[in-house]
Amino acid sequence: MSTVHISANKGDFAETVLMPGDPHRSRFIAENYLSDAKLVNDLRGVRGYTGFYKGKRVSVMASGMGQPSMGIYSYELYSFFGVENIIRIGTCGAYPERIKPGDIIIALGACSDSAFAKRYDLPGTFSAIADFGLAKDAYEYCVSKGLRFEVGNVLSSDIFYSEVENAGKWAKMGLLGVEMESYALYCTAASLGKKALAICTVSDAIYDSKLILTPEQRETGLKTMIETALEIAR
Ligand code: HPA
Repeated sequence: MSTVHISANKGDFAETVLMPGDPHRSRFIAENYLSDAKLVNDLRGVRGYTGFYKGKRVSVMASGMGQPSMGIYSYELYSFFGVENIIRIGTCGAYPERIKPGDIIIALGACSDSAFAKRYDLPGTFSAIADFGLAKDAYEYCVSKGLRFEVGNVLSSDIFYSEVENAGKWAKMGLLGVEMESYALYCTAASLGKKALAICTVSDAIYDSKLILTPEQRETGLKTMIETALEIAR
């Protein structure tokens, strides 16, 4: 059974799918963390694998970049492949100076400049939030490992090269970071009665463009994020 964007059979995906943005990263996770991993989708090179982590059946597939891409893949996984939980594992830029490259942000909520929720035709503003159970599990795991992390609101922007003044306005509202996918994921999960969470490694700082992840920070930051997601997968 294939959908427009996923060529796989029903049952090929586990109940929980980890979604990095980058297909290379989904392959990296499958090769380095999963046992008995099988490639279940390769349409457009958006690699999806299903395997086992500590005996738990888990899938990992790329979301691509941006809300439209995340919207497509999460919708098809939830609607046609029996997926119940999607955990986004991506990178984000940090707003407050106390948050440094390599830190982790658990996105409890996501704001957006996108029109993604317009199609629900709601008579107001939709607050896109993570599943509380998944967020709580991620929080408890990060505490137990003594990781540098924060829990809060992020901006899922449609624009990577955005104006600095806008960043200041979002930062003033207490947002922790900016990325490009969580809002679409949370909206899609809500509209289909499914569960979602986004965990992000800080890759850069909006308050200082020179502050970017060193290769070493990148390695450990991504590793802790991947492990957090795998540990809380159900
Ligand atoms: N903006 C948007 N998305 C991002 C960023 C950013 O600064 N860093 C990582 N993903």
